[in-house]
Amino acid sequence: MEKLVIEGGKPLHGRVKISGAKNAALPLIAASLLAPGIHVLHNVPDLRDTRTILTLLESLGLSWERDGSTLRIDGSGLKYSEASYDLVKTMRASVLVLGPLLARLGKAKVSLPGGCAIGARPINFHLKGLEQMGVQCDLEQGYVDASIAGRLQGGRIYFDVPSVGGTENLLMAAALAEGLTIIKNAAREPEIGNLIDMLNSMGAKIKGKDSDRLEIMGVEKLTAAENRIIPDRIEAGTYAIAVAAAGGDAIIEDCEPHHLPSLVEKLQMAGIDVEIGDTFLRIRSKGIQQPIKAVDVTTMPYPGYPTDLQAQFMALMTCSEGVCVVHETIFENRFMHVAELQRMGASIQIDGRTAMVKGLVGKTLTGAPVMATDLRASSSLVIAGLVANGRTDISRIYHLERGYEDIVGKLSGLGAVVWKENE
Ligand code: UD1
Repeated sequence: MEKLVIEGGKPLHGRVKISGAKNAALPLIAASLLAPGIHVLHNVPDLRDTRTILTLLESLGLSWERDGSTLRIDGSGLKYSEASYDLVKTMRASVLVLGPLLARLGKAKVSLPGGCAIGARPINFHLKGLEQMGVQCDLEQGYVDASIAGRLQGGRIYFDVPSVGGTENLLMAAALAEGLTIIKNAAREPEIGNLIDMLNSMGAKIKGKDSDRLEIMGVEKLTAAENRIIPDRIEAGTYAIAVAAAGGDAIIEDCEPHHLPSLVEKLQMAGIDVEIGDTFLRIRSKGIQQPIKAVDVTTMPYPGYPTDLQAQFMALMTCSEGVCVVHETIFENRFMHVAELQRMGASIQIDGRTAMVKGLVGKTLTGAPVMATDLRASSSLVIAGLVANGRTDISRIYHLERGYEDIVGKLSGLGAVVWKENE
C-alpha cells in the first residue's frame, strides 16, 4: 500500500488545472448504457472510480477505449444485467446502472451497497421511485432484483430530501419510459445538469434543468451522442482551500467558479482574497499570518455549502483566529477526519452532527502520521499536512485516488513538497 508524505509549511504559488468532475463522469458513463452506438465523452478524469465504473460496464457487455481524457464507449454490446457485490462494494455509485439497465433490458440485479465510512447511505429513494414507474423490486441475498414486463411507466416522484444519485438514476430510467415522469424536490447539483444535457443530446425530452422540479417525457429510443464532463467543483474547491490555508498566490484554472457560490463566500468571509474569473479562481492568502477569521459552515444540498468540502474547510478553520461551528446535515458520520486533525494539534469538539473548531490563533498544526478514512477526509488531511510544521505521512491514500487526478503532480506544480512512498 502507498502513503503520501508532505513536508508542510510551504506556500503554494502558480497554476493548477482542474480535471473533469468525478461525480459527473460516473452518471454520464452509466448513461451510455441507454443507447447502442459510440458515445463520446470528453474531459473524463482518470481516477480509481471512473476505472471501476468502466469495469462494471465491461461486465455488462460494453466495450470502451480511452484516448487522453476522451472516452469512447460502445453501448451496443449490452447483454448482462447484473452488477456484482465485488464492484458495488468498492464504489457505491455503481447503483447508477440500475435505472439504465431497467430502461433498456427491463431487468437489473444490483448488489445493495451497504454502509460506508460516512454513513448508512441507503438507496430506498431510488427503489421507491422505480416502483412508482411500475418496477417490481425484490431484495434477495444482498441484491436488488428489479424487473418490469414491457416499458417503464412514467410516474410522479417526490424526494423527502433531495438525492443526487436518486435523481440521476430516475432521470435515466424515465428518459425511456412511456409517458410523463415528474420528479419533485429533485437535487439540483451541477452534475445533474450535465447529465440532463447528455440525455437531451441523445434525444431525451427533459425540462427543468437546474430546478427542483424535473419533467421527463419518455421517448421510445435514444441514440449515442458526444458530450463533455463539467469541471470538478470539489477538486477546484479543495485546491482553493489548500492555497487559503497554506498561503500563497495561485490560479485554479479550467473550473466553473459559479458552481462554487457558497465556498467563495465562506473564503471571503474568512478574509481570503478571491478573484473570480469566467473559468478560473485566483486565491491570495498569507496563511496563518493573515489572520484567518473563524466562519461557521452548515452543509446543504446545492447551492448550499457542499458536504464534499466540509472536511477541507475544517482543516482551514483549525488555524483560524476564533471559534466556529461546522454543522453536517447530509451524512451522519462525516467527522472521521476530526480524530486525525486532533493528532496534528487541532482543537475540535464533536457533538452529534456538530463540530466546534477552536482556531490555533497564529500557530499552526504539527506534522504527524495520520490515516485516510474516506475520500474527502483524506483531502482535509492533505490540507492539514500542507499547513503543518514538519512531516505528515498519510496512509491509505487509495481513498484519495478515487477522486483526485494526479494530486502529487498538481500539488508539486504549486511548489508543495509532497511525494508517494510504499508503506
Ligand atoms: C452524491 C455524491 C457524493 C456527495 C453526495 C451529497 C456522487 C457519485 N456522489 O452521493 O459525493 O457527498 O451526493 O452531495 O455523485 N438518502 C437516503 N435514501 C436514498 C438516497 C439518499 O436516505 O435512497 C440520503 C443519504 O443517506 C444522504 C442524503 O440522502 O443523507 C443525500 O444523499 P445523496 O444525494 O443520494 O448522495 P449520493 O448520490 O450517494
